[in-house]
Amino acid sequence: MMYCCHGWLRWLAILLALSIPQLQAFLGKENEIKTAVFLSPKFELGPGSVENKYYYDIDFPRGHVFLKSFNGEVIDDAGNPVPLYETYLHHWLVARIYQNKSVNIPNQDIFVRNSGLCQYNFLGQYFGLGSETRKTSTYIPDPYGIEIGNPKEIPEGFEEKWMLNVHAIDTRGVEDRWGCTECRCNLYNVTVDEFGGPLPPGYRGGLDCCYDHTQCKLRQGFKGAKRSLYLRYTVKWVDWDIHILPLKIYILDFTDNWKRISNSTGLDVEHDCRIEYDVEPCSVNGDVDGKCVDSKKLSLIMPYGGYVIYGVAHQHAGGIISTLYREDGQVICSSNALYGDGEEVGNEAGYVVGMSTCYPKPGSIKIANGETLILEANYSSTQFHTGVMSLFYLLVADQAEAL
Ligand SMILES: *[C@@H]1O[C@H](CO)[C@@H](O)[C@H](O)[C@H]1NC(C)=O
Ligand SMILES: *[C@@H]1O[C@H](CO)[C@@H](O)[C@H](O)[C@H]1NC(C)=O
Ligand SMILES: *[C@@H]1O[C@H](CO)[C@@H](O)[C@H](O)[C@H]1NC(C)=O
Ligand SMILES: *[C@@H]1O[C@H](CO)[C@@H](O)[C@H](O)[C@H]1NC(C)=O
Repeated sequence: MMYCCHGWLRWLAILLALSIPQLQAFLGKENEIKTAVFLSPKFELGPGSVENKYYYDIDFPRGHVFLKSFNGEVIDDAGNPVPLYETYLHHWLVARIYQNKSVNIPNQDIFVRNSGLCQYNFLGQYFGLGSETRKTSTYIPDPYGIEIGNPKEIPEGFEEKWMLNVHAIDTRGVEDRWGCTECRCNLYNVTVDEFGGPLPPGYRGGLDCCYDHTQCKLRQGFKGAKRSLYLRYTVKWVDWDIHILPLKIYILDFTDNWKRISNSTGLDVEHDCRIEYDVEPCSVNGDVDGKCVDSKKLSLIMPYGGYVIYGVAHQHAGGIISTLYREDGQVICSSNALYGDGEEVGNEAGYVVGMSTCYPKPGSIKIANGETLILEANYSSTQFHTGVMSLFYLLVADQAEAL
């Protein structure tokens, strides 16, 4: 109950509180949040096997709308959620594409990137997480949203479509579950990459060793059935409305080996995001302060800024926390890994089952155009890790409040 005010104001407040449903009915339904639950195409996994598929033209909200959230989980044929220790969800990505209406082949699509920062074809997705999906909030507060389906933006002759990439590893019966989830090349008996090319020198693990249809080593004699799985995803959105403020999506990558380049019109930045990296164990690297933490920092230049509305990091098992700072040390957002400690779905012991999120008070944190930010990524280095990631998603608004 509210105790906001005195006298008639208080009565007015109570009256309004009581009549909100009626008021909404009167105003119409244009701002109502809509929810849809969809299934990805079916994929099949046997013990130790890997699926990394790209599905073009998935089910998705249509029309000129603002997305409010995207969540998902892997389920089996009977609709039961599957725990991470059976099917490890390495990652899923949802990307926006414009498809030529007269040809229906994926390589003619225009990939509609988010606002940055990586180079072409890298981390251009609108949404994407991994094992932490079940307990990571992706909700965008009012009055903001991610604008899609604006007919004025879609080029003539093209249609807006959505692409889903799911990378999942079945670790039932494997000899080394963590080694399989970290894509150790020796466990997959992989010596060439997906395209038959050589692996980079010294490469011990990562996506180049657990591509589609690779097989992780099973325990001697283990037999298990192949099963059919789906990514079940829930999308929330609202219809387009003049009062909703669009957000830009930035994905910062800790491995971004960017450099300044000069072009005909002046200085520019060339990004080189490699997405994955390894964490050496402290026994090899020497222990910095007795805690076995691999802590590294990277400076990045934000081409455009705005008001920070939401932030979240993506880390793999071993991840502790990732923090985005201003150059003067002020924290913009800090996102830490939440580990499971049980058997039930969403709380699987040892896995990163969630990442904490930031919802700064709108208007309170503004990034300037061209501002340099510091991305810090902390991983436990008690053990060796391959193919880990430290990404940072930022949703940023040009305006803090509706005019
Ligand atoms: C779409 O594809 C057709 C066939 O390849 C091509 O002729 C046409 O120019 C394409 N449309 C656009 C707008 O690029
Ligand atoms: C590993 O791969 C090599 C060649 O690619 C093959 O000869 C060997 O049998 C494989 N080992 C296992 C255990 O699958
Ligand atoms: C050169 O850099 C500027 C500044 O970032 C950019 O706006 C422009 O598109 C670049 N020009 C070329 C030809 O790449
Ligand atoms: C990351 O680790 C370093 C080194 O242990 C520590 O100084 C720093 O405070 C950590 N960052 C956060 C946000 O906890």
